[in-house]
Amino acid sequence: MKVLIFGSGGREHALAWAIARSPRVTEVVCAPGNGGIAQVARLVPVSLSDLDGMVQVAVAEQADLTVVGPELPLSLGLVDALQLRGLKVFGPTKAAAMLESSKSFAKRFLQRHKIPTANYAVCKSLVEAEKAIEFFHAPIVVKADGLAAGKGVVICQSRRAALEAAQGLFTGKLLGSQEQQLVIEEFLVGEEVSFLCLTDGNHVSPLVPAQDHKRIGEGDTGSNTGGMGVYSTDSILEPEMQEWIMHHIARPTVRGMAQEDSPFVGVLYIGLMMTARGPQVLEFNARFGDPETQAILLRLESDLLEALEACVEGRLAKTEFRWKPGASACVIASSGGYPGSFQTGFAISGLEDAAAIPGVQVFHSGTAMVDGKVCTSGGRVLGVAAASDTLTEALESAYRAMEKISFAGMYFRRDIGHRALNKSGSRPGSR
Ligand code: AMP
Ligand code: GLY
Repeated sequence: MKVLIFGSGGREHALAWAIARSPRVTEVVCAPGNGGIAQVARLVPVSLSDLDGMVQVAVAEQADLTVVGPELPLSLGLVDALQLRGLKVFGPTKAAAMLESSKSFAKRFLQRHKIPTANYAVCKSLVEAEKAIEFFHAPIVVKADGLAAGKGVVICQSRRAALEAAQGLFTGKLLGSQEQQLVIEEFLVGEEVSFLCLTDGNHVSPLVPAQDHKRIGEGDTGSNTGGMGVYSTDSILEPEMQEWIMHHIARPTVRGMAQEDSPFVGVLYIGLMMTARGPQVLEFNARFGDPETQAILLRLESDLLEALEACVEGRLAKTEFRWKPGASACVIASSGGYPGSFQTGFAISGLEDAAAIPGVQVFHSGTAMVDGKVCTSGGRVLGVAAASDTLTEALESAYRAMEKISFAGMYFRRDIGHRALNKSGSRPGSR
């Protein structure tokens, strides 16, 4: 069986790695891929913003299954376009992917279906925003409506700051493009959990929970990023809490989308805040998380390809998932300066020594092969992932492997998993 994956990040490296392990796979192709994915897949160049180009690649490859990784091609309607051409494709349609691509759509959907989420207002102008802000107490969250690669959310400590953020988003000063709509939202306090589910549009199967670390600085300080590290243990969510989330959030979301004639097939990533009044939806993503996927797939024992195919064929209810007990973690190494400006093109050393540590996998994000050498080519460069019996051991392996890797300007957080380790009373060792 031939599988084509669209994407170029650590998430797609993990998907390619997991899919390539399936005994039924004969070939994995990735478009456009990266320096690490080249080790497990044949790469085909394409731009992830070029819908026609991606369709041409998929039609030429005629894979038995196509998997769409990132949000941009989903929001452009790549799944719809490939379905029209008779291809089997894993991922939501453009209409279903609006759960991620439009925050106002997601918030109204949540409200229509009585799914717990922060109080909010949708504003189409600065005048509307000014009126809405009066109804909120600081801190106030101001969000761009559309996709913004994690940069479209501003947490404001006063009404005045909220108004400035709204102005910055409407005028294009903050994101470079002028927003047409904003969501203004109540600030929620609690721990964040990434709860990813697979769904065939009807049945919903939860994956193991994960916790991301979105801020660039240790102690969760500084700017938001795409994610600087993640861990997964079953203890992130007690079984009763997981069932509560399935019953009150995950299944009602999938049922609601089906009722509204936009059945959602693919990965439903539910970003949750565990607040004093229970879990609340912070956001939906219509795709696998990055770096959550790297940690989650390291714990998956059953066949990922089987599960993805079952989603596309509407038979997920009959698919069993087997998970490694214990824990996994993925620590991201980024280019110095990220999420601001940074330089690329630096050679990366120590990758083989890192991967030789038992239980460790190195997943590439922003890397490229230049003259036969792996070099940096993006902000988040690579993720070092490890699985073990305990979180302490998984983190120790990941950090031991990270110490082997180096490139000019390399940065990584040394406190991934700190909340879980503090709770369990474990010590992160020498870090
Ligand atoms: P989003 O893209 O909506 O998930 O927002 C990105 C990040 O901003 C989240 O992962 C949270 O850390 C933070 N955030 C978003 N909305 C809220 C909120 N209502 N209250 C507190 N933090 C939030
Ligand atoms: N790690 C957060 C995301 O994938 O959106």
